[in-house]
Amino acid sequence: MSESFAAAPVRTADPCCFVIFGASGDLTHRLLIPALYNLAAGGLLPDAFSVIGVARKELSSDAFRDGLEKSLRTFATRRVDDAVGRRLLGCVSYLQGDGEDPATYEQLRQAIERVEAARGTRGNRLFYLATPPAAFAPITCRLGTSGLSRERDGAWRRVIIEKPFGTDLASARALNQQLLASLGEHQIYRIDHYLGKETVQNILVLRFANGLFEPIWHRDHIDHVQITVAESLPVGRRGRFYDSTGALRDMVPNHLFQLLSLVAMEPPARFEASAVRAEKAELLDATQVQSTSDALRNSVRAQYQAGTSANHRIEDYRRTADVRPGSTTETYVALKLMIDNWRWAGVPFYLRTGKALRAQSTEVAIKFKQAPFVMFRDTPVDRLAQNFLVLGIQPHECISLQFNAKIPGPMITIKGVGMTFKYQDYFDTAPSTGYETLIYDCMIGDAILFQRADGIEAGWRVVQPFIDAWREADGQGLASYQAGSEGPEAAEHLLARDGRRWRPIA
Ligand code: BG6
Repeated sequence: MSESFAAAPVRTADPCCFVIFGASGDLTHRLLIPALYNLAAGGLLPDAFSVIGVARKELSSDAFRDGLEKSLRTFATRRVDDAVGRRLLGCVSYLQGDGEDPATYEQLRQAIERVEAARGTRGNRLFYLATPPAAFAPITCRLGTSGLSRERDGAWRRVIIEKPFGTDLASARALNQQLLASLGEHQIYRIDHYLGKETVQNILVLRFANGLFEPIWHRDHIDHVQITVAESLPVGRRGRFYDSTGALRDMVPNHLFQLLSLVAMEPPARFEASAVRAEKAELLDATQVQSTSDALRNSVRAQYQAGTSANHRIEDYRRTADVRPGSTTETYVALKLMIDNWRWAGVPFYLRTGKALRAQSTEVAIKFKQAPFVMFRDTPVDRLAQNFLVLGIQPHECISLQFNAKIPGPMITIKGVGMTFKYQDYFDTAPSTGYETLIYDCMIGDAILFQRADGIEAGWRVVQPFIDAWREADGQGLASYQAGSEGPEAAEHLLARDGRRWRPIA
């Protein structure tokens, strides 16, 4: 993110060898290669660069490259320039190997050393673990024991870990310990693709590069905050993963908590990784860890039933392939969280996310306190519209302020109106995968957009009581909602009991 504040000259990423474990999988083909292509097309990849794909599948380097070329043509976010594509794929090779087998690491060492000599990548190595989570610790451990990840002679060695990072507080802690046994914290880049989204990064700029918002960004002026990540798509082909994960683990301690911490954290002293990550972790640390009974009272979990979304018929969640017929896994979750610090005491943060909802919509809505109505008592005005500042993340990237205005005419009548800033009206941004900034930042050693061990654990600490409470309740209290709706009625009650309402999902 370092290049984005002003028109600083673009810095090409450091020379390096980019090793992808799990290279035959979807992530590499759909996202990593298109992202590397976009970096290459933008002149951000160095000449001294090479990619080594590692996976169990038996494949020649030629066959691997052919597969990547097809994927690039299918998943590229912009027109592929043949010369750039050829140059990128020309530095790709493949190594068949099992991440748990020590022999793989000896072969990998030889492959890396060949590449380092041929392409001059200066010993810098980025290991991307695009593997199932069970492989994160074993691969990192082998990278350590083989010496491949040991930093020396000024060369850096970094490891990108995908999500999910643990399945609860204990497993996340254990994973952190396992990683830290082989690597220094400064070598670990825990990725959350939400932080690759421009509009998510812009929350920092909106708050801290403007003098306008920060003075009113606290409990004296803010009534509550709503964070919504609504998806219209159902679970689809990910039944096996999703049924053992559920909406809470899949989305909350990672994506929704990234939004929460950027919106609510204190201003960091410097725009630099340690300061920003410390404030984010601090915020999650200040988020109330609820008792089991409060967790039940302050949460809603639900599963979708057959319905229609965007003209598509969606079948019952329980009929999805690889989902257990009597599954009680939630596909929707709504939470009420409180933050115990001076800025936010008494201000509820309502979070919701779900699959198969009416529309895709990710937004953060900040509701300001109502103006006193007294002055309008003797006028025909019967109510004032609510003051919301809405940060639209996707699909509409915008910032919109809603306030009251007088309808022209002799009478005092008032209507809610809005001012909206749309990114597309100001910036000519090429569509991206969201991984470009993250990969580039890792290659220049900027960890602002990556998660630190303390932040991850603080997030799981907040989520753990909900996991425990639901496990104890054993399926009791699981609500349902129709696919294509705005979610379960119980989620309306969660706010209604506080005299509030969710914004419509549109
Ligand atoms: C992933 C989850 O991390 O994020 C998916 O595993 C979810 O279930 C996805 O659909 C949402 O990402 P985005 O960028 O489409 O909002």
